Parts: sequence; structure tokens; C-alpha cells
Amino acid sequence: MGNPLYRQYEKLVTITVMGKKFQVPEKNICLRAFQYISPETVPYGRFCWNQECQLCRMEYTMDQTSEPPRPVLACKILVAEGMQVVGLSDELNWTLSGVLRPPQPRPPLD
Ligand code: FES
Repeated sequence: MGNPLYRQYEKLVTITVMGKKFQVPEKNICLRAFQYISPETVPYGRFCWNQECQLCRMEYTMDQTSEPPRPVLACKILVAEGMQVVGLSDELNWTLSGVLRPPQPRPPLD
């Protein structure tokens, strides 16, 4: 498909991020997939996108494995069908908060 932000892909794969399911482009790194999920916020994260800043740390497991979660960099690892992201850095948590949690009520103005 034709968006130049994403590496060439034929289909979407299903991943779970902190218990919520999302469809993201295959053959792309997780950080790019997170941008696909939340295009208005992930570009404003303080990410280097080249494995230097460490602000994109995450942990994941795969379906049907009993292995402990693996710590990885979201700007390095490719998404895979059935990937379950079970831990996010503070920066990822902040940039994905709008899609992971229900909207919070606006504080009163007083
Ligand atoms: S975005 Fe900087 S290390 Fe991944």
C-alpha cells in the first residue's frame, strides 16, 4: 500500500498493546506501527528512531508461549501477527495514552 511512511506491506496484522487489539501494517517496526495506531501523537514523542535514545523500550510476548516478556526497542523490532506488547516505556505510554485509555474528564476551570 502506498503511504511512504510505512515499508511496503500487503496486509495488516493483529497485535495487542497493553490488552487492546490493533491492526497494523506487517513488515514494519513496532514504533512505526504505533504511529499507525496513533498518528497524531507518536510523531511528537522524543524518539530518535535509530536505536540510540532508548525511549522506545517495550516488552512483548508471542501467542502460545510461556516465556517471560522480552525487552526490546520498538524502533528495532518488526511487528508480527499475535505479538502482545505487555510493557511500554514512559515515552511510549505517553504517546499512546489516547488510544490505550478511555478519555479522562477535563479538569474543572474553577
Ligand atoms: S526511538 Fe530511540 S532507541 Fe528507539
